[in-house]
Amino acid sequence: MAGGPLLEVRDLAAGFDSRHGLVKALNGVSFVLEPGERLGIVGESGSGKSVTAHAITGLLPSNARVTGEARLDGVDLLQMSKRKMRHVRGERIGMVFQNPLHCLNPSMKIGAQIEEVILAHTDADKREASRRSLELLDQVGIPSPDRSAQEYPHLFSGGMRQRVMIAIALACKPQIVIADEPTTALDVTIQAQIIDLLAETCKAYGAAVILITHDLGILAGFADRIVVMYAGRVVEQGDVDSIYYRPAHPYTLGLLRSVTRIDEARRDRLVPITGNPPSPVLLPSGCAFHPRCPYTQPVCSERVPPLELKGGIDHPAACHFAEEVATHRAGDAVQ
Ligand SMILES: Nc1ncnc2c1ncn2[C@@H]1O[C@H](COP(=O)(O)OP(=O)(O)OP(=O)(O)O)[C@@H](O)[C@H]1O
Ligand SMILES: [Mg+2]
Repeated sequence: MAGGPLLEVRDLAAGFDSRHGLVKALNGVSFVLEPGERLGIVGESGSGKSVTAHAITGLLPSNARVTGEARLDGVDLLQMSKRKMRHVRGERIGMVFQNPLHCLNPSMKIGAQIEEVILAHTDADKREASRRSLELLDQVGIPSPDRSAQEYPHLFSGGMRQRVMIAIALACKPQIVIADEPTTALDVTIQAQIIDLLAETCKAYGAAVILITHDLGILAGFADRIVVMYAGRVVEQGDVDSIYYRPAHPYTLGLLRSVTRIDEARRDRLVPITGNPPSPVLLPSGCAFHPRCPYTQPVCSERVPPLELKGGIDHPAACHFAEEVATHRAGDAVQ
């Protein structure tokens, strides 16, 4: 659809039937992704990042109940058949997950796995698929593509396997690549290389990227825009600079203070957020962050703050005291 965003997620909610009753993992998540944009989704464990990605791509298990909309070029993915979604996943949305070994077939050569994706989703014949797979291996920085294509995944390091996953995600020239914690299992220097590779290759292919992480530090040099999630909601979203330099939600402030920086030895600044994220079966009343929030007031346990633009702040935040937080933050030297 001309003019609209590439992906528009609106009021996405997801729950799971369980023996504890309905686990409400997402409670009305909305965001947009523009063509070619790099969006970061950040939040602690359990905030609903993966459920968001899986809901959009039709990968939630059968005990999940999903409502809302996820429109790709105007067409709601949530209404699509499983068969159509399988095609969307290969052709229009590429995926990179935390553990490539779960996604790669251990008994199939690397090259053949890339070819398989190309053959399943494009008109290419075997010869063309083989040529493309070697080209992709080269583009993602796998040395000697000819030889590497003949190897099995277990011979590759974690970083190399993730490069292969990026090649597979890009194999059909998708409009979007969703990478869910793609570097969590890797050591720090390799992490940076993989994030840079993701940025470069997706740019070369003209694909937008959704990078999911619990570490705001990773998004600094990567994201155009950031969505901050807490307890199944978006609590703040804005341009990367707005989020880093003018955060207006106390949770984002907490995440910023706990960022690990590779470039600076400022360990004294590493202050974890006190307490733990809530369980979705026992969400605190009002603002779910209020039991952990240094700014909390009585109203915070009474009313859920909507995600909205408030005076003096250049992006929306879901906090009753967003203006105070933003002002306070301006005098704070955490950087
Ligand atoms: N299949 C499921 N059945 C029941 N609850 C689930 C299921 N999948 C996820 N959840 C719950 O939904 C909530 C959100 O989970 P999700 O995996 O999206 O978190 P996350 O932000 O990706 O965390 P992490 O950083 O650990 O990957 C969690 O409380 C989780 O326990
Ligand atoms: Mg996750």
